[in-house]
Amino acid sequence: MKIAVIGTGYVGLATAAGLAEFGHTVVGADKDAAKIADICRGKTPIYEPGLDEIVTKNISAGKLAFTADVDKTIRDADVIFVCVGTPQDENGRADMSQIEDVSRTIARNLNGYKVVVEKSTVPVKTSDWIKRIITLYRKDETPFDVASNPEFLREGAAVSDFLNPDRIIIGVESEKAREMMVRIYAGFSDRIMVTNIDTAELIKHASNSFLAMKISYINMIADLCDKTHADVEQVALGMGLDPRIGRQFLKAGLGYGGSCFPKDVKALMNIGGDLGVNMGLLHETDKINRERIGRFLEKIRKALWILKGKKIAVLGLAFKPQTDDIREASSAVIIGHLVREGALLRLYDPKAMDNMKAVFPESPGIAYCEDACQAAEDANALLVVTEWEEFRSLDLARVKKNMANPILIDGRNLYDPAAVRAQGFEYYSIGRK
Ligand code: UDX
Repeated sequence: MKIAVIGTGYVGLATAAGLAEFGHTVVGADKDAAKIADICRGKTPIYEPGLDEIVTKNISAGKLAFTADVDKTIRDADVIFVCVGTPQDENGRADMSQIEDVSRTIARNLNGYKVVVEKSTVPVKTSDWIKRIITLYRKDETPFDVASNPEFLREGAAVSDFLNPDRIIIGVESEKAREMMVRIYAGFSDRIMVTNIDTAELIKHASNSFLAMKISYINMIADLCDKTHADVEQVALGMGLDPRIGRQFLKAGLGYGGSCFPKDVKALMNIGGDLGVNMGLLHETDKINRERIGRFLEKIRKALWILKGKKIAVLGLAFKPQTDDIREASSAVIIGHLVREGALLRLYDPKAMDNMKAVFPESPGIAYCEDACQAAEDANALLVVTEWEEFRSLDLARVKKNMANPILIDGRNLYDPAAVRAQGFEYYSIGRK
């Protein structure tokens, strides 16, 4: 089987390289020729641990190729994975224009039976639209099938998630498509779940929204802990030890960001709303998440009172560790507020500084620093916004010496309050005293 992967973002690159790693022959296509040229040189446009390595390895082994010729890639393929972006539009709905565009390109190049696989996160019922577009625009009656194979990979762990999936969801409506899809994932027969297409599409949105809800839930409990003597870390541990609840995704902090959770919660809210279903639980999930920034700013104001003219060091800009992605990152919203209030910011992140410079260029009020210690120089307060491992092992004594006032406001509960206070810091965190 010849496999095409259309789109070379996080999901497309991991899918193309991962399928090649499984032994298939894969061509990744993207109409952005400059991006393709970089990838062919072994330089993927994103920071993702292990990705460059498996891309380069499989290109050398002749199992993986990249091209800007999307039409030919489609004509040559038996199975086409659609991995283009579905960004959020101004109304919180998924913008499906790239999916429509690819569907039309597939229709134009339909020269034999093909399975068109939705890999991008799409609203339930998208497959009906893809089918309709291909049927409308194809030149003749050439048959095709649509399948849904949602991707569950996490940024920062995309390669290992793709190569060691918990489950492979395959939504199909023909035996031929089922057989071809199952063959692609032959090595994981014990983890394959085959459903109809609507179900597969919904599993993705329902999973992401559930995890987002878990995070908002623990953040709501953290608000309660802030007003009492309870400690949210211990509450989360005590809850998580019940296997029915589980310990994961109960980390209180600055809320969820990234390219998936905020978008997927809103998309599911809208899908349900359009179908007349009460999605109140998700409206609250989203609201609690947005409130995180205000709560954090309250803590900053409690520590510093007036922000105008204060030097504030910000550690961590990526929406989470192990990535350079700043989409929906709490850092950007926090920085925006602090800049508007006249604070002077000293920013540092191990990977995401270039991306943040495009949003907040260097200016008299914003400096980008080489490391955490430099960011702390002369600062009136230090904020931890992303829990990079290197911040956990910071030499806090050295940091403190650099600072004008030893005030540490930790948005990710990275440090042990007693240990930090023993070093002479005034310390604030989330849902803990
Ligand atoms: C997520 C899903 O995990 C993945 O299955 C899906 O395919 C895409 O969306 P990702 O966005 O890469 O992956 O990151 P994830 O590690 O899930 O974290 C999402 C956000 O939640 C981050 O902002 C993270 O900081 C936050 N988070 C996560 C918490 O605030 N608390 C937690 O306990 C866990």
